[in-house]
Amino acid sequence: MMKRLAVCLMLAGPLLAPAQAATAADSKSEGEKLYMEMNRVLTHPRCLNCHPAGDSPKQGDSARFHVPPMTRGPKDSGPPGMHCAACHQSSNYAASGVPGAPNWHLAPLSMAWENKTPGEICRQILDRRRNGNKSLTEIVKHLTEDELVAWGWNPGTDVARRVREPVPIAKPEFNRIVHAWAKAGAVCPQ
Ligand code: HEC
Ligand code: HEC
Repeated sequence: MMKRLAVCLMLAGPLLAPAQAATAADSKSEGEKLYMEMNRVLTHPRCLNCHPAGDSPKQGDSARFHVPPMTRGPKDSGPPGMHCAACHQSSNYAASGVPGAPNWHLAPLSMAWENKTPGEICRQILDRRRNGNKSLTEIVKHLTEDELVAWGWNPGTDVARRVREPVPIAKPEFNRIVHAWAKAGAVCPQ
């Protein structure tokens, strides 16, 4: 009797383990897939131009340095006497081509995404020491409700009166993906 049970357990062991491992791997790769979709938005110039690695915001689809030349200044809102808000209003200004949204300023250097891999960006936005001390719930809220983020879907026209390209993936679909990613454990690619 005891011997038969032991044989059963020995047989069951290796049979169960791969099945469980497969489930974990499935949800991991599902989470990674969701993040890779989100990453298409995050690394679009509409987002990246405000999350640069250096001292200057970028402009346009080719991410050229900001004209007129601009630095982040002590609070990421421009140097003294030349704040972002001097030109950027709380909404797009069609007549001048200056984009706008409430409290327009640069993402701090700890939140720079330029030249980073999807995995690096993902881990960074989840890292409370670098993301402005935001919990996962707060990151989801930021991604789905923040007004600077939302500008990426409504970027207006540029100084040459060309329509700026919005980020890919419609907003409701992006929000659905962000919630699904968080629910699946906020998995990051390698
Ligand atoms: C006008 C500049 C601007 C634009 C455009 C912008 N951001 Fe940001 N972003 C910021 C600033 C400033 C912060 C810091 C806000 C804070 O900590 O409260 C930030 C923070 C974030 C964070 C917080 C976590 C972190 O580590 O970065 C996320 C996520 C984020 N932005 C996503 C986006 C996405 C997605 C887009 C494009 C759809 C975007 N942002 C476009 C300025 C911008
Ligand atoms: C003297 C006016 C002025 C100031 C000050 C200014 N900007 Fe701009 N900014 C502009 C103009 C004009 C454009 C539009 C350029 C275009 O469409 O070709 C622009 C475009 C941008 C864009 C490009 C959006 C895109 O995706 O193409 C970003 C990002 C930006 N500014 C960030 C900032 C930040 C951050 C600050 C403060 C640190 C700032 N700007 C200060 C005039 C200014």
